[in-house]
Amino acid sequence: MKVFLTRRISGEGIKILQTSGVCEVSMWDSDEPLPRAELLKRVQGVDGLLCLLSDKIDAEVLDAAGPKLKVISTLSVGYDHLVMEELKCLYCLFISGIRVGYTPDVLTDATAELTVALLLATARRLPEGIEEVKNGGWSSWKPLWMCGYGLSGSTVGIVGLGRIGMAIARRLLPFGVQRLLYSGRTAKAEAAEVKGEFVPLDTLLAESDFIVISCSLTPETQGMCNKEFFSKMKNTAVFVNSSRGAVVNQEELYQALATGQIAAAGLDVTTPEPLPTDHPLLTLQNCVVLPHVGSATYSTRGIMMGLAARNLLAGLQGTAMPSELHY
Ligand code: GLV
Ligand code: GLV
Repeated sequence: MKVFLTRRISGEGIKILQTSGVCEVSMWDSDEPLPRAELLKRVQGVDGLLCLLSDKIDAEVLDAAGPKLKVISTLSVGYDHLVMEELKCLYCLFISGIRVGYTPDVLTDATAELTVALLLATARRLPEGIEEVKNGGWSSWKPLWMCGYGLSGSTVGIVGLGRIGMAIARRLLPFGVQRLLYSGRTAKAEAAEVKGEFVPLDTLLAESDFIVISCSLTPETQGMCNKEFFSKMKNTAVFVNSSRGAVVNQEELYQALATGQIAAAGLDVTTPEPLPTDHPLLTLQNCVVLPHVGSATYSTRGIMMGLAARNLLAGLQGTAMPSELHY
């Protein structure tokens, strides 16, 4: 069987595949993404595909791969880059179907940790402060200079209290958060552990001092954080997004930040990625943008590569995947 890896994979992940005796491994041996035309060429006739969140896997890719393709393993927990409708459609055509593996759980802690770091960096203006030290803007200790917002006594609102949302909540509570609100499709039993109150989105927006977006990107959440959303937030509230960039209408976020409608925003995800260096959001002091590094610890990325490799192998062998996406 043949598998294609759309990026250079290292460590345990590649070893598992190369020594499995199950598949012949071909890989885009680079840290940079492969051009679309190259992807379409390299997937021809493969049985398995290991991809990244930056690869859009749609009918065009499936057509290029051909009828042998039986498993797609993504090195991510998010799967909005896999066009499920098109996978399902092909599922109807092929008796065996295409199985999908992903990497939930193993990146929860790293992503929650990064989200907390981003929240604090944004609320306490760390990038701005570091810049002031370097450029001579630090002239003396001044009572109101470089002031931001603290978590102690605050109300935090989490939009999407899933695995990562819960892990963020657990980490934020010890900072002295007074109320933890959450909204989403349904109330969650596990929210009791973090004393989470399930509230309508409008209530969460009106009452929260910190709003953290931790939902997946779906047709319902696409563009959810728009002008109307920001207009319901407090002027002193801090907005943080570590889910997917497309949940936010960036033009309307820019307006909200530039006009003081909201206090600040921390984004680990944008549209597009990378964000062009001349993007208006990057001109704002009150916007902190990170290059989608939620799961980027050495340990987590190593574990993700191992899991993605095991998912791929299980899919090829027709056995139970460690993490299969049932779609
Ligand atoms: C990261 O954003 C992921 O989906 O794993
Ligand atoms: C701050 O450094 C203080 O001593 O108040």
